[in-house]
Amino acid sequence: MGFAETVRVLPNRTMRSLLIGMSHRRSLARLATRSPITRPMVARFVAGETLDAALPAIGELKRAGLRTTVDVLGESVTAPEQAVAAGDSYLATIEALAAAGLDVNVSVKLTALGLDCSRELCESNVARIVKAAAAHGGFVRIDMEDHAKTEPTIAIWREVHEAMPNVGIVIQSALRRSHVDVDRIIAAGGRVRLCKGAYDEPSSVAYRTKQAVDANYVRLMERLLRADAYPALATHDPRIISRAIDMADRLDVPRHRFEFQMLYGIRRDLQRTLVDRGYTVRVYVPYGCEWYPYFMRRLAERPANVAFMLRSLAKEEGRRIRGQ
Ligand code: FDA
Repeated sequence: MGFAETVRVLPNRTMRSLLIGMSHRRSLARLATRSPITRPMVARFVAGETLDAALPAIGELKRAGLRTTVDVLGESVTAPEQAVAAGDSYLATIEALAAAGLDVNVSVKLTALGLDCSRELCESNVARIVKAAAAHGGFVRIDMEDHAKTEPTIAIWREVHEAMPNVGIVIQSALRRSHVDVDRIIAAGGRVRLCKGAYDEPSSVAYRTKQAVDANYVRLMERLLRADAYPALATHDPRIISRAIDMADRLDVPRHRFEFQMLYGIRRDLQRTLVDRGYTVRVYVPYGCEWYPYFMRRLAERPANVAFMLRSLAKEEGRRIRGQ
């Protein structure tokens, strides 16, 4: 059995753990980012390696009636100067978005902004980004990383949000604790982006089956819609999206009081359909050179992506051997 075939028959959960495990390997990151072979596949999920390359893609989404939030790729930074540089990249991004008349809305990861260096550095880095966004009437969303980061992420969000309201946070339905967190955030007047969770978490803290994660998503979504807390429902799952639409109708929550969010390059058809039906859809647009862990999480979400990539690699290798 070839490698591609082995990959195809692996159970989804094993495959997911394997790929998420690989997403942390720096040696693989170096290999992948140097290889021209991965480029076409990465381009499906990442708008470009530079801001200049990403801006036209963001403009195109705007012209198609979609809103956007921009992520400057990067995470797990351990050197303070790198964290400061990541903060600077966000400031440049915010200014460029404003100058181009695009949505001033960015998504940040705290481990890119120095969470693993010092909490003070990270908090001040987040605060300067939120302040810069506020100057243009913009918004900052703090992404959620693995469960070890949940508590510090909420603590930093709370501090910054007390001073500036234009900052929201992400909650993952995979985590058992999330109903408590959602209630705390609603009580503090915060905005939640609800997602399923992209990390491989242990069963002590997380639901491990799709069924349980989805059921919790629906419960949390109902809490957020009932609270009229302008939730961002981040999913490509058509069943959950239909439930959201029915639930909002039943609870009398108008269309402008919540939004759907999807990732760049995923289910463009569904994004379009929802916009045509009058719903707000925001696309999460990542750009930058540090795409490897983000890309691996996207592969982990859908094993068919891996088979597709392996087929492309095999074709490329065949062409190389034939000297084309
Ligand atoms: P699910 O995985 O059940 O997929 C439903 C369907 O969507 C699939 O059948 C397929 O058609 C399509 N699909 C999903 N993923 C795909 C992929 N990679 N390639 C192709 N098709 C795919 N996570 C996190 O832990 N912290 C965060 O801060 C965020 N932020 C975030 C922002 C936004 C805007 C989105 C949409 C998602 C996130 N996530 C996230 C990721 C999230 O937790 C989750 O891993 C993915 O959204 C996949 O889950 P779905 O809800 O789409 O459902």
